[in-house]
Order: sequence, then structure tokens, then C-alpha cells
Amino acid sequence: MYNSKIIGLGKFLPENIVTNKDLEKTMETSNEWIIERTGIEERRHIKKGDNEGTASMGVKAAKIAIERAKIKAQEIDLILFATLSPDYYFPGSGVLVQEALDIPDCPAMDIRMQCSGFVYAVSTADQFIKTGMYKNVLVIGSEYHSGGLDMTTRGRGVSVIFGDGAGAIVMTREENNEIGILSSHLHSEGKHAEELSLIGPNTGRWVPEIIAENKQDDISYYPYMNGQFVFKNAVVRFAEVINEGLEKTGWSPDQIGMLIPHQANLRIAQFVQRKFGLSDDQVYNNIQRYGNTTAASIPIALTEAWEEGKIVPGTKVVLAAFGSGFTWGSVMIQW
Ligand code: ACO
Repeated sequence: MYNSKIIGLGKFLPENIVTNKDLEKTMETSNEWIIERTGIEERRHIKKGDNEGTASMGVKAAKIAIERAKIKAQEIDLILFATLSPDYYFPGSGVLVQEALDIPDCPAMDIRMQCSGFVYAVSTADQFIKTGMYKNVLVIGSEYHSGGLDMTTRGRGVSVIFGDGAGAIVMTREENNEIGILSSHLHSEGKHAEELSLIGPNTGRWVPEIIAENKQDDISYYPYMNGQFVFKNAVVRFAEVINEGLEKTGWSPDQIGMLIPHQANLRIAQFVQRKFGLSDDQVYNNIQRYGNTTAASIPIALTEAWEEGKIVPGTKVVLAAFGSGFTWGSVMIQW
């Protein structure tokens, strides 16, 4: 059995910055409310007409990751694309990346695990690399939320949180089994599927039916979140799944060099930080600048932490996520 390790990282954020003050123009909200409840100061939104999308942002992040990995795109054996906002209902966005990067016929798979999507994708890549089936795997998390949010007061409980962006990594085979991904831990609990969801259109309510009804006030096309219920579950599951990784690796919390939590809400990250007694420089947060970018949040934060020199050979890195499904997971990495 091989190990897998990360050899290239990249990120892409749209240039257009949307501040909390900007949101006050379309909905009843305030800078103070958003900062107090979420920690978010600004986020990026793709500008209509910019010809940007979920796959194209992923491609930009992937090109940087591939260059830093010092391999050619054509050496990629598998593409894993984590998103809840694919360019099309079908096919997935992974095949669009494959075409854009001109990789002849490698498998390209979308992973639909929302906020936990990147953690699930890293774990999936790790299994393929461990068995020897694939050597180089490109893992992308990308989200284009802004076009689909309800930017009126009706949607404010959800819409102030989410932002657009993409992150990507290249993973490869490692023969030293003390380096790279040491363990990953994945969970889901479908009984809470609708607590954080976007329901329509769906197979119980197809598009012709929706068009025939023509209801302007139908909110099933917008994301729904039972915020307090999600918050309560998130803090419990984050802690559980980080503990699971600590038990498996035998690490103590003070040995964690960098915890990269999914950037759901700064208050959730702070709760987890306190729970494990971690110092500020053991946890990376950038939700203040980008909002919650769902499957993209961990690869964007991981890339920034690495670019800032906070992750170097020898650093013990923990990735942890919780989100819609509910789904949650962690990945333990010896850099
Ligand atoms: N601006 C001003 N007021 C608002 C806003 C807003 N943007 N949104 C909601 N409110 C109002 C509500 O209408 C409500 O008013 P009312 O008391 O008159 O009815 C009041 O603020 C309180 O609303 P709550 O939803 O109870 O506010 P809460 O303190 O729970 O904060 C939040 C909402 C920030 C969503 C919180 O529940 C939360 O962080 N939940 C965790 C979920 C999360 O982090 N989701 C991220 C995506 S999921 C993921 O990645 C895991």
C-alpha cells in the first residue's frame, strides 16, 4: 500500500468584492449583525457577464496547483470535482475541467457532498492512490453561489453567508507511509437532509410542473437553512470527527500545527478552537474575507495557509468539515 500526499495547491477568487454594506442595499441587514453572528466582513461574487462559472474557476485554481506540483496536466490520472453548484444539472463539472485542461480521457468524477465535499474528495483520492490504481489525482472544490441566492430580506438568513471561489490540489503517490494523508474519517446522517438544502426542481417536481404553476413566490429554488439547528449539530460533529482523527493518529491537540476547518461560520471555528484548547496560530480562518464558499473553503484556506508559510514539511495538518446532508469528516495530514 502507498500513501498519498499533496504536492501542489492553488486558489481562485473572483475580483468583485461585496461588503456587508453592499448587502444593506438589497435587504434589511447590517454590517454589525453579520459580523457578530458570522464573522464575515466581505465575500466575492462573480459579476454577471464575467463569463465565469464553477468549472472555469476550478480550472484557474487547478492550473496553479498543477504548475506548483511540477507535473503536466496530462499526467493527471483522475479528476475529482467537489461542488453543490455545478455548471449544469448534468453532466458534472469535472468533465468540463478535463476538457479545459486538455487531458485526453482520464476519469472525471463530481462529488456532491456540499460543505464536506472537499474532505470526501481528498479521502476518495487517497483510496485510489493507496491501492496503486492512480498516481496523480487533481482534487477541486469550487462554488458559484451568488447567482442563485435570494438577495432580498426574505433570504437574508442564508444569503449573507455564502461567497464564490475555488481551490485545488494535486495529490500523488508517496512511498514513505509516515508522510501524507495518515487517515480520513467520513460520516453522514440523512435524516437531517432537508435542514440545509435546495429542494427544487427535483424528481418529485419536474421543471414542466414548475413552469405550469408559474409561482413567483416559490422559494424551493433557493437554499434553505435551519441556522440554529445546523450550528448546534456542527459544533458537536466537528469536535467528534477531529477527536476521531486524533485517536487514530495518536496526536494530541497541542501537536496540531494547523487546523483548517470548513469556513462555515467564524463562531463555529472559534467554538472548536476553544474545545481543543488551540492557540490562534493553530487554526486558519479566512471566512472574514471570503464568506462560506462551501466545498471550496478548505482548499482556499489550505492554499493560503501554505502560501503564508504556515504549513511546511513536518507540520501536522487537520482538515475538518460539516455541512448539508448532514455530512461531516476529517483528514489528518503529516506534511
Ligand atoms: N441580517 C439581520 N437580521 C437577520 C439576518 C441578517 N442577515 N438573518 C436573520 N436575521 C434575523 C432573523 O430574521 C431573526 O429575526 P427575528 O428574531 O425577528 O425573527 C433574527 O435575526 C435571529 O435569526 P436566527 O436565524 O435565529 O439567527 P442566529 O443567531 O441563529 O444566526 C446564523 C443565524 C448566522 C445563520 C446562525 O444560525 C448560524 O451561524 N448557523 C450555523 C449555520 C452555518 O454556519 N451555516 C453556514 C452554512 S452551512 C455549513 O457550511 C455548515
